[in-house]
Amino acid sequence: MITWGCQMNVYDSARMTDVLRPLGYTPVDAPDSADMIILNTCHIRDRAAEKVFSELGRLRLIKEERKASGRETVIAVAGCVAQAEGEQILARAPYVDIVLGPQTYHRLPEMVARAARAGGAVIDTDFPAEQKFDFLPEDAAPQTSGNLTAFLTIQEGCDKFCSFCVVPYTRGAESSRPMVSVVAEARRMVEGGVREITLLGQNVNAYHGQNPDGSVCGLAELAGMLSDIPGLRRIRYTTSHPRDMDQALIDAHRDMPALMPFLHLPVQSGSDRILKAMNRGHTAAEYRALVLRLREARPDLALSSDFIVGHPGETDEDFEATMQLIRDVGFAQAFSFKYSPRPGTPAAGAPGQVPENVKDVRLQALQALLREQQDAFNQSVVGRVVPVLFTGTGRKPGQITGRSPWLQPVHVDGPQSLIGREVPVRLTARFSNSLSGSLTEEYVRA
Ligand code: 5AD
Ligand code: SF4
Repeated sequence: MITWGCQMNVYDSARMTDVLRPLGYTPVDAPDSADMIILNTCHIRDRAAEKVFSELGRLRLIKEERKASGRETVIAVAGCVAQAEGEQILARAPYVDIVLGPQTYHRLPEMVARAARAGGAVIDTDFPAEQKFDFLPEDAAPQTSGNLTAFLTIQEGCDKFCSFCVVPYTRGAESSRPMVSVVAEARRMVEGGVREITLLGQNVNAYHGQNPDGSVCGLAELAGMLSDIPGLRRIRYTTSHPRDMDQALIDAHRDMPALMPFLHLPVQSGSDRILKAMNRGHTAAEYRALVLRLREARPDLALSSDFIVGHPGETDEDFEATMQLIRDVGFAQAFSFKYSPRPGTPAAGAPGQVPENVKDVRLQALQALLREQQDAFNQSVVGRVVPVLFTGTGRKPGQITGRSPWLQPVHVDGPQSLIGREVPVRLTARFSNSLSGSLTEEYVRA
């Protein structure tokens, strides 16, 4: 299983592994020992398709080498590139056996059988009426082997149609899993040792699962149910849309200690003109006001965001408005991208495309500012005692590592018996992407 792209793909890959297990497939590390290779792809930005074709070229050689020694290899392409470019994949890479879109993973066993029977390629990029999660088997083991942290997809797809984005086309319309099925999966994860769950969705805070009585369950209510599961210490969710940040969810950040004070809330731009062109459905002032309300509810809340520079029509003033929003809000972390035209999206054909060199300059300035803010944020926690969930051993002997409430990696000298526990740590120093700390007296020999 080769996985590219977002965390939703990571989750999907785990579920594809689950669905194939009854057929006798188990994951392996190296493609040349694999009877089947699934490439789970991402289409969000530039050169997605080229990257897939060059990887497929490499896999073809593996397939041929194995064939020479009498072993067959099934090659499958899954994910959003498969959805968007399925036919082209089969035309350009005829050695691919299976192409399947993100909504049809539950049909994978059937496709494997059909590919074996037909000896020809099988393609399934429908948006079926049934929800794949209703048909995927319950994961026997926690989906990430013996892990203390796990992803759980609760919502998929998007109806918002931002001007630049392929997601509504590759992942389809928005849909939510029923509350009971999410809670049951979370319980199994916690029974398997998971202590921190990140709820996933392209628009996770638009979650509207069904309650058993037919009423709608929002994300705040769902988080409340999950926080009642004994043993589950931490809940996160990503990715959120500012428009779906309702009062109940803001209140949950005030009232629910398990809900971690770190929120990925993409704003994309700080210019009202560009936000409008992007079809984001809110202004920069509304975003600022939302951040204020969130910080009132949870004063230690840190924010992360996504930014796009060079959306069609973006002027120097628009870009400066984005810089100003960053200065005003202050982000603990962020992802930023040059706008890249995605085929079939409204912005791709819009007038006022921004030259690459202008995008480069803007991206550099933006990233320098965000880097400064990230360093400042990491520095601001040094000296504090914060709860760290330990998840594994460090590189150096005697070291254990974990994560802070703000998702910063933390390294300390300490006993392995603390792995799986959340304990207070005094943070002592910051590095570019991690922190070091020391245990308080009572845990040193725990
Ligand atoms: N060009 C650049 N960045 C994009 N993103 C989505 N589509 C594009 C695009 N066409 C970014 C957005 C989104 C993140 C997942 O990827 O910032 O929030
Ligand atoms: Fe894409 Fe916008 Fe939907 Fe996010 S909200 S997935 S950026 S269309």
